[in-house]
Amino acid sequence: MKIAICGLGTVGSGTFNVLARNGFDIAARAGMAIEVIRVASRRMNPACELGSTQFTTDIFAVASDPEVEVVVELLGGTTIAKELILKAIENGKHVVTANKALIAEHGGEIFELAARKGVTVAFEAAVAGGVPVIKALREGLAANRINWLAGIINGTGNFILTEMRDKGRAFEDVLKEAQALGYAEADPTFDVEGIDAAHKLTILASVAFGIPLQFKRAYTEGISAIAPEDVQYAEEFGYRIKHLGIARRLEHGVELRVHPTLVPETQLIAKVDGVMNAVMVDGDAVGPTLYYGAGAGAEATASAVVADLVDIARALRQGVAVGVPSLGHNPEHLNDLEV
Ligand code: HSE
Repeated sequence: MKIAICGLGTVGSGTFNVLARNGFDIAARAGMAIEVIRVASRRMNPACELGSTQFTTDIFAVASDPEVEVVVELLGGTTIAKELILKAIENGKHVVTANKALIAEHGGEIFELAARKGVTVAFEAAVAGGVPVIKALREGLAANRINWLAGIINGTGNFILTEMRDKGRAFEDVLKEAQALGYAEADPTFDVEGIDAAHKLTILASVAFGIPLQFKRAYTEGISAIAPEDVQYAEEFGYRIKHLGIARRLEHGVELRVHPTLVPETQLIAKVDGVMNAVMVDGDAVGPTLYYGAGAGAEATASAVVADLVDIARALRQGVAVGVPSLGHNPEHLNDLEV
């Protein structure tokens, strides 16, 4: 399967490197080799040794390149990335993306076009980095009516809160470190004001409850107003401050909210520290379940990108339609979002 990676930042370089290092095992699982035939980016990244892979700065050229079967969009942002994805779909290419802002805000339009063109847009990497929570909701929990889900879904925010608590470090200082480690968004306000978590919650809720993507209707509050004293007082009373995204089924719809929360320190989710993410999902048949792992970082996120590529390769190999993800399909909840 011939693919193009667009964007060679943290996740783009991580994806290239994981495919290069584990190519043999990945090919065995996919049933075919996954070959990166183009890398398109504004600039090279010294973290990647591209070898004979063709490099171009013309990002849009890959969307119409007849040799490319899958476009992997790792540019971020909602303007150029959207244009690229729509162009790729128009040209009959499958798309894999890690772009939570784009899916949460423009997913409706993108999936509608993908359905018309018979291609898939896969986005496991958009939520909780390497944690396969979209797959868990779609596959492992397919039997369930989901009652609620709640999670730590921004690694940068959790890293900041953990360092403030454990080492008494200042907010700004930890944020700078998160940026240096490649955890934070290009605009870190998205992390600290809860916008990134709200994007991810919007996507999770759409998959879990079958409601349309309605990012604007999520209540969103970040961690920027939290001081080290708040973290320490919470600790004295036996609580941890955790920034949670919560989606809950109510009598007349689904409630979406993102905000700092006092969690009793005895709860599993209270012990999720650093850049780790964890999502609890409660289904009517299975009861509560928990998905845990690195929520940000180059190779953790690449792990989810490659998992989507393997899914597409398997479907192509079996000659079945890759399948368009079921988002917002449940008419019972169509206009049913409550805050
Ligand atoms: N900035 C995001 C985070 C990256 O810290 O969780 C992964 O989506």
